[in-house]
Amino acid sequence: MMTFQEMVQNRRSIRDFQEKDVPLAVIQKIIRDSCLAPSASNGQPCRFIIIKNREMMKRLSDESKNNILSDAAKNPAALSKEYKALLSDEKFNVFYNAPCLIYVAGAKDLRSLDVDCALAVSYLMFAAARDGLGTCWIGFGTLIRDPELKKAIGLPDNYRIVAPIILGYPKVIPAPLERKEPQILKIIN
Ligand SMILES: Cc1cc2nc3c(=O)[nH]c(=O)nc-3n(C[C@H](O)[C@H](O)[C@H](O)COP(=O)(O)O)c2cc1C
Repeated sequence: MMTFQEMVQNRRSIRDFQEKDVPLAVIQKIIRDSCLAPSASNGQPCRFIIIKNREMMKRLSDESKNNILSDAAKNPAALSKEYKALLSDEKFNVFYNAPCLIYVAGAKDLRSLDVDCALAVSYLMFAAARDGLGTCWIGFGTLIRDPELKKAIGLPDNYRIVAPIILGYPKVIPAPLERKEPQILKIIN
């Protein structure tokens, strides 16, 4: 069993995966663990959509890329040149051809939704690392607007996606990226 220290050190964003299926039972166990995260008033608002179909992931990647680019056309300052070039590349799949995508979503009108989902995601990432799986939060995969596509993935109209998380068995776990020293603004004794 991994110690907490090993788990936080092993959790890295993974963007390159083995061609190995992640069994549904394993995904469900990780999701169950993510639900142990705290939530405002114990409201437990996170809902999960599991996608293991690469064709569907490609459609979602294209939809999200197109929406980001069309928003950026109206507000060019919102997207860097590098990201614009990357997202304009037809071959670039925002989900890196991962074998699985989990959308963490919830009711649009809930004030604590982002915070509750982000906490659940961090538990999900650690649970995945414990089971030898890699994850990456894909902010670029969030912007799904096409009503047909929303219907196809079972996202109700009054829900919004907070976190697209890719999941799979990593080819390699990269060395940790450097972290800055914690910036403690003040210590009051
Ligand atoms: C809210 C959020 C959005 C992110 N979006 C993307 C993304 O669209 N594409 C990507 O490759 N990585 C994305 N990441 C992963 C970050 O780049 C990564 O967490 C960061 O570089 C630190 O690396 P580490 O997770 O390996 O420690 C995102 C992470 C977060 C928390």
